[in-house]
Amino acid sequence: MADLTGRVALVTGGARSIGAAIAYGLAARGAAVVVGDLVDSENHPSIRLDVADEESVRLAIASVIGEHGRLDIVVNNAGIMFETPIDEQDLAGWNRMLAINLTGPMLVSREAAPHLAAHGVGSIINIGSLEGDACNPSHAAYAATKAGVHGLTRATAIDLGPSGVRCNAIAPGWIDTPLNANYVDNHPDRDTIIDQLALLHPVGRVGAPDDVADVACWLAGDESRFVTGQIITVDGGRTVRPSLPPSLA
Ligand SMILES: NC(=O)c1ccc[n+]([C@@H]2O[C@H](COP(=O)([O-])OP(=O)(O)OC[C@H]3O[C@@H](n4cnc5c(N)ncnc54)[C@H](O)[C@@H]3O)[C@@H](O)[C@H]2O)c1
Repeated sequence: MADLTGRVALVTGGARSIGAAIAYGLAARGAAVVVGDLVDSENHPSIRLDVADEESVRLAIASVIGEHGRLDIVVNNAGIMFETPIDEQDLAGWNRMLAINLTGPMLVSREAAPHLAAHGVGSIINIGSLEGDACNPSHAAYAATKAGVHGLTRATAIDLGPSGVRCNAIAPGWIDTPLNANYVDNHPDRDTIIDQLALLHPVGRVGAPDDVADVACWLAGDESRFVTGQIITVDGGRTVRPSLPPSLA
């Protein structure tokens, strides 16, 4: 397990689900963890942060530095999802998705950059998505933001690499959280859907927040020191198996 003792981490959207699992994993490895979220974390020191608000981001980074004197790990995890087909997409919703999912990670990384560079161990972990490379119906805004996060990850790695800061993204597949619970919870036959979802994955199950957290912790620490600019898929093998007609699958 990576030893992150002495490092300070900020996890955006860390109050629940994937972000909470990452915050827990980083703390378990010795990091001092601060959660930045619209709501307080039950398990870690929290800062009220709206990643879409430039001033809120500036204050959050200043608060971490004021409290801890350094910042080594940034996890840009905060995100939202809604479904609207492209021909019905209103501009306000589109702009909100962009502001939280894509502009937010840019603002946080920009404000954190000088602090991440200060001790030569800075690591930014962006949470992208399979939908940065593929797309479900009615996910135009979400897919566009996640493709943007993947591009931002590569650009950040290039720009900050010379100052000793790495940047990678995780592209999770189906992770069981409230973000996608509506798909199954509102279905008349929830158990069948869960079984069918599991069958899409070579490992035989959908993902859990810890599956993402363990990879994030590896990217945060020195074991991944020569890894930067990468988009690491964490999807139980779902996307390496081409779909077949049901009669052949
Ligand atoms: N769940 C999945 O299957 C899945 C798959 C791929 C990618 N992701 C990505 O993983 C990340 C976390 O997803 P999740 O499933 O844990 O979601 P979630 O909805 O369970 O949790 C999201 C967290 O982000 C916080 N948040 C929302 N807007 C914010 C803002 N403006 N500023 C600060 N915090 C804000 C929420 O309060 C919440 O604590 C997201 O970026 C999501 O797009 C999730």
